[in-house]
Amino acid sequence: MEKSGAATQPKRKETNTHATTSDLSRDGVVEISSSLRQLLADVFALYLKTKNFHWHMIGRHFRDYHLLLDEHAEQVFAMTDDIAERARKIGGATLRSISDISRHQRLQDNNEESVAPKEMLEELFADNQQLTRFLRFTHEVCEKHNDVATASLIENWIDETERRTWFLSEITKEV
Ligand SMILES: [Fe+2]
Repeated sequence: MEKSGAATQPKRKETNTHATTSDLSRDGVVEISSSLRQLLADVFALYLKTKNFHWHMIGRHFRDYHLLLDEHAEQVFAMTDDIAERARKIGGATLRSISDISRHQRLQDNNEESVAPKEMLEELFADNQQLTRFLRFTHEVCEKHNDVATASLIENWIDETERRTWFLSEITKEV
């Protein structure tokens, strides 16, 4: 004898919730946006450090380094809006304040009163190299959840970051 009723009720399919605006899974949105949040904090920290060294540069290569770091800062700053808006586009949240940045940043600030030009460049080299590692990590998170659009943006940022690292590495060799 066949009975119809509760036992045959179709299982509710896991689909989008209202919290997600994309077709990504809820877990995916949480994981990707939290990785983007850390990335954004690092990028703001790197932006300010690059500007800091641009402002406080001294020495016989002043003009070259001052201009190079401004170019780098501009490039780094340009990432911020795209990172934040990627998180929003997939239905996640992003940073809200300076204190939020300091809670999430992994790259360290430099509040020293006096930093030698070579040290400035070496520190930025190391930070940019570290940023590439962080970008690669977020790229892996995106791949895991099939977020190809964020992954594709990250690929360009890795290329730009490696370009900055290249320049910083070449000029530190002869300082
Ligand atoms: Fe300036």
